[in-house]
Amino acid sequence: MARAGSKAILLGEHAVVYGIPAIAVGLKNGARAEARQADRATIRVGTRQATSGDGSELSRAFDALLQTLGAPPCSVTVEVDIPTGVGLGASASIGVATARAVIEATEAGAAAAADPRKRLYEAAMSWERVFHGNPSGIDAWGAAFGGCFSFVRGGGVHSLKVAVPLTLAVAVAGPAASTREMVEGLARLRDRKPELAEKSFRGIESLVKNAVLCIEAGDCVGLGKLMDLNQMLLAGLFLSTDELERACDLARGAGALGAKLTGSGGGGCVVALADQDPSPILAAWRQAGLECFSSIVPSSAENTEAPS
Ligand code: MEV
Repeated sequence: MARAGSKAILLGEHAVVYGIPAIAVGLKNGARAEARQADRATIRVGTRQATSGDGSELSRAFDALLQTLGAPPCSVTVEVDIPTGVGLGASASIGVATARAVIEATEAGAAAAADPRKRLYEAAMSWERVFHGNPSGIDAWGAAFGGCFSFVRGGGVHSLKVAVPLTLAVAVAGPAASTREMVEGLARLRDRKPELAEKSFRGIESLVKNAVLCIEAGDCVGLGKLMDLNQMLLAGLFLSTDELERACDLARGAGALGAKLTGSGGGGCVVALADQDPSPILAAWRQAGLECFSSIVPSSAENTEAPS
């Protein structure tokens, strides 16, 4: 069984599409996939099914992934362990799990690719492009490799040195939203109001730079404030909703150091940074009927595996 995680963006979504750095963390749950070689390429994701060449989005994404890997036809089954369309990168997770399963099923014992990480990432990106049109790649990176990292489109990905563990709480605050539509909506706003978009992106860039310093210095109070400011800038770009704002307010009222939407906005999830214990935040959200969970990003020192 091949697996992939998912991700939460701490700061910088949307601006990352335009070359501004963003910070994300990998989340453990995501998707699981199994593959076997077959006469015809077929894929089942939960209850959705597609066959190569049937014209559906799913089949086009699967065909693109197989083509990027140079893999023979496979039959793939995927189970998804996270809610979809809510900003956690489910489609990237499915793409990464599918690519891993196909590689396992078709290349066991074959000579390893020159750069297996790049190959996996590129296969997931060819899948993502079918669903999202113009993805930055941050979702695929988070699903494939996890950790806490800063990401620049088409360029450097840096693992961040997490000085103290980050305790995150995530709630599904609004209905699913289409990443493609949210990204295209912002592109139209940017065409109409280039100055607003440019100023917001520059603001986000400076928040992200400072957030890197906070994460590496263990300043969670500072990081929380930067997340709140990022939320204000995202709201100014019409990416927030009443439900997302309410979930952020509930989290802050329950002691969160900061809270913001995560992913494409327009619905979906909020992420809050807890001051150690996330349970008051989770309790406030549950009382409001929101599905939620917590996740700890370990400090880099805890995360370092001893060399064998
Ligand atoms: C979606 O998880 C993040 C966005 O920035 C889109 C992207 O980076 O491709 C909204």
